[in-house]
Amino acid sequence: MRTIVAGNWKMHKDRIEAADLIAAVIAGADAWSPSVDVVVAPPFPFLAEAVERARGTRLVVAAQNCHEAAHGAYTGEVSVAMLSSIGVGACIVGHSERRQYFGETDAAVGRKIAALLSANIMPIYCCGEVLDEREQGRHFEVVARQMDEAFRELDVSAIARTVIAYEPVWAIGTGRTATPDQAQEIHAFIRGQLVGRIGDAGREVPLLYGGSCKPDNAGGLFGRSDINGGLIGGAALDATQFTALITIAGEVMN
Ligand code: PGA
Repeated sequence: MRTIVAGNWKMHKDRIEAADLIAAVIAGADAWSPSVDVVVAPPFPFLAEAVERARGTRLVVAAQNCHEAAHGAYTGEVSVAMLSSIGVGACIVGHSERRQYFGETDAAVGRKIAALLSANIMPIYCCGEVLDEREQGRHFEVVARQMDEAFRELDVSAIARTVIAYEPVWAIGTGRTATPDQAQEIHAFIRGQLVGRIGDAGREVPLLYGGSCKPDNAGGLFGRSDINGGLIGGAALDATQFTALITIAGEVMN
């Protein structure tokens, strides 16, 4: 099983800051465990430069979103062919902020996943419940429904090539993280859903945890059997913290 530590920069950094952060992350690459894949997702304007800087290293550069169509009159959108043409290797889809502020639906996310895979770009599919749903004990049902809708039109090999990030919305950017037990419980549930859908291939799909994951709580999370890494927001904006997370992933997962 691959382990993945992915940084989602969201709408942060200017060009110089982005270049500095990429350089600082790459500077630690000699110490990365061979079993950990490291991904960063800068904002669109900095992707091409990030890819150039990452060339010849193990760092994979990801986008934070894409459009499902190959091209067309979609002002402000970016196609997978555009991402592929500059060497982007992965793309986050279905992040809760995209769902909440930009109306992204699971059906659209499913089409984005298909488009990404056709361009050989690794999709990182985000799912997770909001606080009310967690408090009502509906988190399993919510995540199962999200996955059903997103994966409905995808075949077994497409789902097998998708990375899943479970991100409880109440933990994103709040400093309130899921406990390792809470995260493992729902990751095991997601694993079960995957195996039910695609058989044994579902055991090989990396399941990332996201939501206020920091160096001081990552050891407990990454150490659990169905947690195969993290999707990191705030702590990915700081090279020292991000590098610490990569180190922890390498230590606890070997
Ligand atoms: P956070 O963000 O680590 O700042 O909570 C995680 C995410 O949104 O992917």
